Amino acid sequence: MGTGAESGQNKRLAAYSGARVLITGGAGLIGSALARRLAGLGAEILLLDSMVPEAGGNPANLADIREQVRLNIADIRDTAALRHLLRDCDFLFNLAGQTSHLDSMQAPEYDLAVNCTAQLQLLEACRAVAPRVSIVHAGTRQIYGRPVYLPVDEKHPLRPVDINGVNKMAGEAYHLLFHDVYGIETRSLRLTNVYGPGMRIQDARQNFLGIWLRRVLEGAEFELWGGEQRRELLFVEDAVEAFLHAAVSRETAGLALNVGGGEPYSLLALAETLVRVNGCGEFVRREFPDERKRIDIGDFITDDTRFREVTGWAPYIGLDAGLWRSLDYYRRHFDEYVSRT
Ligand SMILES: NC(=O)c1ccc[n+]([C@@H]2O[C@H](COP(=O)([O-])OP(=O)(O)OC[C@H]3O[C@@H](n4cnc5c(N)ncnc54)[C@H](O)[C@@H]3O)[C@@H](O)[C@H]2O)c1
Repeated sequence: MGTGAESGQNKRLAAYSGARVLITGGAGLIGSALARRLAGLGAEILLLDSMVPEAGGNPANLADIREQVRLNIADIRDTAALRHLLRDCDFLFNLAGQTSHLDSMQAPEYDLAVNCTAQLQLLEACRAVAPRVSIVHAGTRQIYGRPVYLPVDEKHPLRPVDINGVNKMAGEAYHLLFHDVYGIETRSLRLTNVYGPGMRIQDARQNFLGIWLRRVLEGAEFELWGGEQRRELLFVEDAVEAFLHAAVSRETAGLALNVGGGEPYSLLALAETLVRVNGCGEFVRREFPDERKRIDIGDFITDDTRFREVTGWAPYIGLDAGLWRSLDYYRRHFDEYVSRT
């Protein structure tokens, strides 16, 4: 039996039973886990995903829920598709995005088109055909840039260190603007690093942990750049609960809220933990490559007190358990995530 607070929260999630939900980026790490959980809550689930090979969308992420979701392979820049899918939607989880920081420096206009222009077009579509939809935008803590104090709360200045951060910041600002000016129920979650089964492990495009997981499972050495920087990791199922609680909490409307993980670890401690949980593995410490160092944010610790207070959310999956579950998943599904050509 749960506590009173827990059962109050679970009652809120009953709002998803029979609700029509659209998830953009629904075949990716967070989107697919959200779809799985919403299927359990009895929602009618529509997914929009472009399945571009450079991102984290993967059919394997949806293998066990294929019968319970409708996947529309379309780009978030396709406004006609958006208008069609948004009609009669109760909830929109807006997760489609270009996520690679390095790619955003090499192809800035693509990042602008997906993370910024398409976000505005999506909001215009909501205003036209679904003005009552409740929206959660997947924001990022990256928009704060290099912290000037720790832990970082929502009052910290915004000073992104890369193109992706600038465009995600603008995408978030459009969401909040549509709340303030048009009364649409939007909010943005500024997420820390999210990981877990379903993440891209082909390379480091999603985050550093993807390529670490791949290497340890291949029995190969992985590279640790620097090592002193502290970071938190949020297990994907905990991230999903944050999205679900945000969309049914009217108190979060119009706000940008931090969502951190558990305890912060140095990257060295994370590398050692991964090797220990795997039972074996090796890594080598290297200087940051120049192109990465220029856009690295250094130490980051999130203060997400406000989100916890407003929604009652807290992360439950600790690092050892989360890494263990990730390793276990990829041992069984490695070939669906790694192309060796
Ligand atoms: N995972 C993290 O650590 C993290 C941290 C902060 C913010 N976020 C944000 O959360 C969201 C989801 O991230 P994720 O970790 O699940 O990444 P992901 O790459 O696994 O998922 C993103 C999905 O968006 C899809 N997509 C990309 N471009 C698209 C386009 N033009 N049109 C339609 N679909 C498109 C991809 O195919 C993919 O399935 C992103 O917006 C990301 O910026 C993630």
